[in-house]
Amino acid sequence: MMRSHYSGALRAEHIGSEVTLCGWVNRRRDHGGVIFVDLRDRAGIAQVVFDPDRPEMFQNAEMLRNEFVIKVSGKVRQRDTGTVNPNMATGEIEVLATDLTILNRADTPPFQLDDDDVGEEHRLRYRYVDLRRTEMSERMITRAKTVSALRSYLDGEGFLDIETPILTRATPEGARDYLVPSRTHEGEFFALPQSPQLFKQLLMMGGMDRYYQVARCFRDEDLRADRQPEFTQLDMEMSFVDEEDVMGTAENMLRHVFKTVLDIDLPNPFPRMTYADAMRLYGSDKPDLRIPLQLVDVADLLKGSDFKVFAGPANDPKGRVAAMRVPGGNSLTRKEIDDYTAYVGRYGAKGLAYIKCNDVAAKREGLQSPIIKFFSDEAIDGVLERTGAQDGDLIFFGADSAKVVNDALGALRVRVGQDMKMIEGEWAPMWVVDFPMFEYDPRDKRLVALHHPFTSPNLADGEVPSEMGEHTLSRAYDIVLNGYEIGGGSIRIHDTKMQSEVFKLLAISDAEAQEKFGFLLDALRFGAPPHGGLAFGIDRLVMLICGATSIRDVIAFPKTQSAACLMTDAPGEVSEAQLKELSLRIRKPVVEN
Ligand code: AMO
Ligand code: AMP
Repeated sequence: MMRSHYSGALRAEHIGSEVTLCGWVNRRRDHGGVIFVDLRDRAGIAQVVFDPDRPEMFQNAEMLRNEFVIKVSGKVRQRDTGTVNPNMATGEIEVLATDLTILNRADTPPFQLDDDDVGEEHRLRYRYVDLRRTEMSERMITRAKTVSALRSYLDGEGFLDIETPILTRATPEGARDYLVPSRTHEGEFFALPQSPQLFKQLLMMGGMDRYYQVARCFRDEDLRADRQPEFTQLDMEMSFVDEEDVMGTAENMLRHVFKTVLDIDLPNPFPRMTYADAMRLYGSDKPDLRIPLQLVDVADLLKGSDFKVFAGPANDPKGRVAAMRVPGGNSLTRKEIDDYTAYVGRYGAKGLAYIKCNDVAAKREGLQSPIIKFFSDEAIDGVLERTGAQDGDLIFFGADSAKVVNDALGALRVRVGQDMKMIEGEWAPMWVVDFPMFEYDPRDKRLVALHHPFTSPNLADGEVPSEMGEHTLSRAYDIVLNGYEIGGGSIRIHDTKMQSEVFKLLAISDAEAQEKFGFLLDALRFGAPPHGGLAFGIDRLVMLICGATSIRDVIAFPKTQSAACLMTDAPGEVSEAQLKELSLRIRKPVVEN
């Protein structure tokens, strides 16, 4: 090993030690005959001092430029009072150099590492330079610690780490597949797995009892800050269990991770909420419970209103009219309200009505609002009472299809909560349970699975499978942390008849089911144990643990919003010869209309 210590790990306790450090020149400063170099490695930055009394070494030090790779030997000493830097972990000490080797030179780096204004594209193109930043190395370290804590927990609980294929058939998580052409089977394709879902179920049927895998998943879908085309799951599955067993294991595992990585005690148990309550109170199936704002239904109060915008949805069974009280919201300016109106517009809302509460006791006279003229006195009383409005508050309204109102007010709730600094507490994990089994897809005019088609329905007493429909709940559960869905899973179907029944409801024909999932249907016939499991999105979990705002920040080599790698320039074209070998021909782009 060339080094004795990491520079970033040096502390007062090392004063007097002889050390050898290796790393990159973060910065060189010349101070009247003395040269200071901030030496950076994975653990952080330490200050190295070069005195001119060793002329040969000093000459070398004068040649140092940013990002030169060097090895320095010297003695750790206390910094002079006055030069102690309390903002640096190593700020109490410095290393007086006795020897310097330049291991490699560097061209002028593509950006200054401590410049906060470097665009993300530039950072991604030169990711190996970006990764040298202490912030990035800390994130990678946290990621490794998180994965290690997940593994050690599951190893301790008797889970077997088993790998599943990457070259496989399409798996049904609802996104578009990434396809890989087969050379040996002309015209045929592998699909990259959207998750190991079917394989882990087959492992249960194979008697493995408890499985986990840190699994790469591939989904060709629209990307966002919390979505990448390839991402990593902590995937797990257990046999002979019910939902309490799986949720209990997942909770314990998450508590273990937070204790190990952050020394934080998460609540025990995590609160649970039904999907229906989450939508009703928060307009979202992944509510951030740290924000105290809630929605309340007011449709019944406004059914008779002259204002069609409200009366329409109030009288429509698929509509929703909801109010959200913002404590202290009276202070919002016209411009701020206009901005929020534009914001909810992104979610399909056609407007954002509001009432400012100046003097609640004065009722109509004490309120200020563009819509109140359409409200009866009873409606006003009802709204004030139900929202619990106080002087100085503002009440927002959404009226539309339930979906639009939930999306719009659900997003507004988070935005206002953040803008008005209402976030209470640091960590709010929760379970969302009692999901609907199916969702109606108006485009395809058919039911689709809310989770995936292998999730077990939660049939009411006496309910027969053939009577399942939109009202049917499933045995699925999602784990939510601070407004992000960090994991989800379910108890699976382990019965052939039930699986066929579900396929039927999803309008998947016998032939199609046989063609796509025949191997699973076969396996169900040969002794399938009851089983269930869950998968965590590791990228999202680590993003939250690191306090980052995008999962790109916690992935060493992420893809851009358009699913490209700027560093390697992937995806790229391939040679005609390669295409020929795969029996492929690139068509001219087809203009579709
Ligand atoms: P699901 O599709 O809910 O379930 O995925 C599980 C978790 O993976 C994360 N996740 C993503 N993270 C980053 N980028 C993406 N594109 C992305 N998509 C999903 C989320 C999510 O909660 N087989 C089932 C699990 C099971 O039933 O056991 C599955 O994949 O955090
Ligand atoms: P208008 O009559 O369209 O000018 O709207 C009067 C008020 O109602 C404005 O504050 C609009 O932002 C609001 N508004 C319009 N449509 C909706 C809607 N679907 N939901 C909530 N508020 C709305």
